[in-house]
Amino acid sequence: MTHAATTPATGPFPQGFLWGGATAANQVEGAYAEGGKGLSIQDVMPRGITEQPTEGPTPDNLKQTAIDFYNRYAEDIALFAEMGFKVYRFSIAWSRIFPNGDDAQPNEEGLAFYGRVLDELENHGIEPMVTISHYETPLNLARGYGGWTNRQLIGFYERYCRVLFERFGNRVKYWLTFNEINSVLHEPFMSGGIPSPRAELTDTDLYQAIHHELVASARATRMAREIMPAAKVGCMILALPVYPLTPSPDDVVRTMDTAHASYAFGDIHCRGAYPGYLLRYFRDNGIDLDITDQDREDLKNTVDFVSFSYYMSICESADPDVETGPGNIMGGVPNPTLEASEWGWQIDPQGLRVVMNDYWERWQKPLFVVENGIGAKDVLVEADGGLTVQDDYRIDYLNDHLVQVREAIADGVEVLGYTAWGCIDVVSASTAQLSKRYGFIYVDRHDDGSGTLNRYRKKSFGWYQEVISSNGAALR
Ligand code: BG6
Repeated sequence: MTHAATTPATGPFPQGFLWGGATAANQVEGAYAEGGKGLSIQDVMPRGITEQPTEGPTPDNLKQTAIDFYNRYAEDIALFAEMGFKVYRFSIAWSRIFPNGDDAQPNEEGLAFYGRVLDELENHGIEPMVTISHYETPLNLARGYGGWTNRQLIGFYERYCRVLFERFGNRVKYWLTFNEINSVLHEPFMSGGIPSPRAELTDTDLYQAIHHELVASARATRMAREIMPAAKVGCMILALPVYPLTPSPDDVVRTMDTAHASYAFGDIHCRGAYPGYLLRYFRDNGIDLDITDQDREDLKNTVDFVSFSYYMSICESADPDVETGPGNIMGGVPNPTLEASEWGWQIDPQGLRVVMNDYWERWQKPLFVVENGIGAKDVLVEADGGLTVQDDYRIDYLNDHLVQVREAIADGVEVLGYTAWGCIDVVSASTAQLSKRYGFIYVDRHDDGSGTLNRYRKKSFGWYQEVISSNGAALR
């Protein structure tokens, strides 16, 4: 006998469900050298993760201007409000607050900018959610210190957090410590600010860097509770459900091992200690980390909620001849039953329900879906006397994923909210393109840097507005 649900969930989402959208500073702000901002690792990644970082900033780096949110935030937030957003997730650029990362005093101009963003959100009654570190480590901390491999970064991060909590603690309730923390294993420079080429890094280097981030996250959580007792601190995980390619027990065990590599982060964030399977992995592979008694104590400051991004699932196989395919920064074996986006990211709405049940059962902490969406090549067309994008493919993708969020809620999973990724077109993290668009709002800027930067409502804009105003009841 199975316990399969036979009646699809219908109707509105729970009262108070936080609908909204998400972006990151380096992908929207531009103004990369204005307002006293220092360079971040993104300023030397003109091709995203597809090529080696450059020495200094290059003129063809789209992120230097991005979508000019730095100057147009009021217009953009007004559009978010028009869609009915209850929450807006954005990141604070660390190098706007501490230009070199190791400065003694913060840059007041940077703090003033985020103060203005918060004013605008408050004017529209939109709850802010802040990612403290979203793939934008100050460049000096990467090149001058070796990024998160260096224990000193814990102290710099704490200093940065203290400034944010003291300045904005009475205005921001939801905080995320590190974006997609599990991606350090795959993208050491972008995720961990580690400048050495991947091939030169040992597993010990990577896990030591991750350990420092986990300790920094736990210390920030403790500090948040002292400075702003009403705040909620969450971890942020790149969720990637893993299915065995075949029913062979070898594939199933391999799948478990791959899943463990990501579960470990949530396990430590939520349970406050290293799980046995990870300690075994360290023993078996000669990985000997510098973990102090104080670190073990600090890690006990566990998070209030678990946030995650979800774009796709992957398969796993024990057969070494099975090839991995394109996908998000984690890679993986393609699932022969699924279609993919134009960038090869396989589309699996049910995987979202699977991962939500999984995380809830494992950690028993409220969940927040803070990224989900499809990158596509939108075409601006004339319709009803204006310019728009007929992005039915985006509506289908988001609708089908939100239906699965509703299923998970019906399964008993506690869900705080959902923020669609790149609610306005942003520069892609992995490829640094503008043609990989996620937004409800089209931004007229192109991969060659041309464009007016004007904003246009896509068809999905009106669709999301209806979904929010009906609190989810309008989903198909
Ligand atoms: C997540 C990141 O990995 O996926 C975002 O947190 C990123 O920063 C998003 O933009 C989508 O990835 P991409 O490469 O299509 O921009």
